Amino acid sequence: MLDGKKTLFSGMQATGNLTLGNYLGALKNWVSIADEYQTFYSVVDMHSITVRQDPAELRKRARTLLTLYIAAGLDPEKNCIYYQSHVSGHAELAWILNCFTYMGELSRMTQFKDKAAKHADNINAGLFTYPVLMAADILLYQADVVPVGIDQKQHLEITRDIAMRFNSVYGDVFTIPEVYIGKSGAKIMSLQDPSKKMSKSDENPNGSIYLMDDPDTIIRKCKRAVTDSEAVVRYREEQPGIKNLIDIYCACLDKIPAEAEREFDGKGYGEFKAAVGEAVVSVLKPLQDRFADLTKNKDYLDSVIKNNAEKAAYFSNKTLRKVQKKVGFPERIR
Ligand code: TRP
Repeated sequence: MLDGKKTLFSGMQATGNLTLGNYLGALKNWVSIADEYQTFYSVVDMHSITVRQDPAELRKRARTLLTLYIAAGLDPEKNCIYYQSHVSGHAELAWILNCFTYMGELSRMTQFKDKAAKHADNINAGLFTYPVLMAADILLYQADVVPVGIDQKQHLEITRDIAMRFNSVYGDVFTIPEVYIGKSGAKIMSLQDPSKKMSKSDENPNGSIYLMDDPDTIIRKCKRAVTDSEAVVRYREEQPGIKNLIDIYCACLDKIPAEAEREFDGKGYGEFKAAVGEAVVSVLKPLQDRFADLTKNKDYLDSVIKNNAEKAAYFSNKTLRKVQKKVGFPERIR
């Protein structure tokens, strides 16, 4: 508890171009709950190098992502927005936690199995211990809640297991975090194949709306979205393309599917798709404008990056020193 508020930690990787799915499924959610918590929102660049990255590209994307956090509405005075790699405690705690994590439990992680299959030529130890670094991220700040997508739930479970294991040996050192899965309905699917999640790495650029797409592109992509021949705007599993467009429409305008069904009752797909496009533009355009303003203000962004890294270091060091003492590292001489 800090200032009477519970602590929230979450992070996102700066790989690929962020999509509307990332925004509606994660960022928008982060913004809506930020005021209730003492928050730490990290750009987890250390996780990114578990697969090969182009250094210049990674640096650029990390800055873009950090800027997007702010453009999406997270006030960097109130929310600690920072790069994971700027706070050395993440790596230091991860090492200690590695010694409290079993090979067996790590090898059961579905994300590891998926990524190992995808990057068969580079199954490095970092990819294997990725969840331990994630546990360190969360436990360093004594986070009570961690908003993540459903795909990260297993990593939250192992984080809790590691924390409880450590606590059972050394006493109450870590807060046991709760996973916070955002509202369902915000899972956005590909516009070209509604059985697949909208993804940063989709080969078909028409399947995803990117946060930086201009209004014309957004409207065109919505118009081309794959639907069906039912010719009714109904929210049901049998019409996955239309269902996805309703989800997008509702998430953008904070409506519920029944409202959308009523609004478009008796109307054609052309009109509905145009409205979805407008809804997306109404959300993304202001975000893009704020992004452009922030990008112009290099000094301001640099000061946010510096100040928040210091703030994160301050809080994380409190936990780190306690842990180091518990495991028996010699006291620092001051
Ligand atoms: N693994 C998460 C993802 O890919 C990102 C992440 C890293 C994270 N550390 C975290 C999320 C800590 C929440 C808390 O989405």
